[in-house]
Amino acid sequence: MKNTKVLVLNGPNLGRLDLRDTSIYGNLDFPALKLFIEKCAVDVGLVADVRQSDSEVDIIQWLHEAAEAKIPVVINPAAFTHYSYAIRDAAEMLSVPLIEVHISNPLRREEFRHTSVISGIATGTIAGFGPDSYRLALIALKDLLK
Ligand code: DQA
Repeated sequence: MKNTKVLVLNGPNLGRLDLRDTSIYGNLDFPALKLFIEKCAVDVGLVADVRQSDSEVDIIQWLHEAAEAKIPVVINPAAFTHYSYAIRDAAEMLSVPLIEVHISNPLRREEFRHTSVISGIATGTIAGFGPDSYRLALIALKDLLK
């Protein structure tokens, strides 16, 4: 399937990557990351609708939208990864693939980041490759949709 739409959802503080620790998150600000993700999607024949919100409500509503319209999802839930059962429950409603991504590798960081309440309902998780985590997720997603 060519030009399949994918929602690429980003959680809190990812909109301010320019203000975060560059040794962990690299040098791309969010607008540059968004462009990178859109280009990676085009390269594999997908169309990425890249969104970011600091609000759990927005992310839950976007997941409802994806569940209803059967749109596959790549999600970096950011800090919500570690404790949002509401996002997990919304993500669990999807009947299409959902890939969890992280720019950093949370397992190499503080202990509170070692728990993901999302991984257990995700199709798969890609973490630790910087912005390339999104590119790898889109490649994996494209293969899953074949
Ligand atoms: C993150 C990792 C999370 O632990 C953190 O809260 C983030 C970003 C990542 O992409 O590496 O905000 O999801």
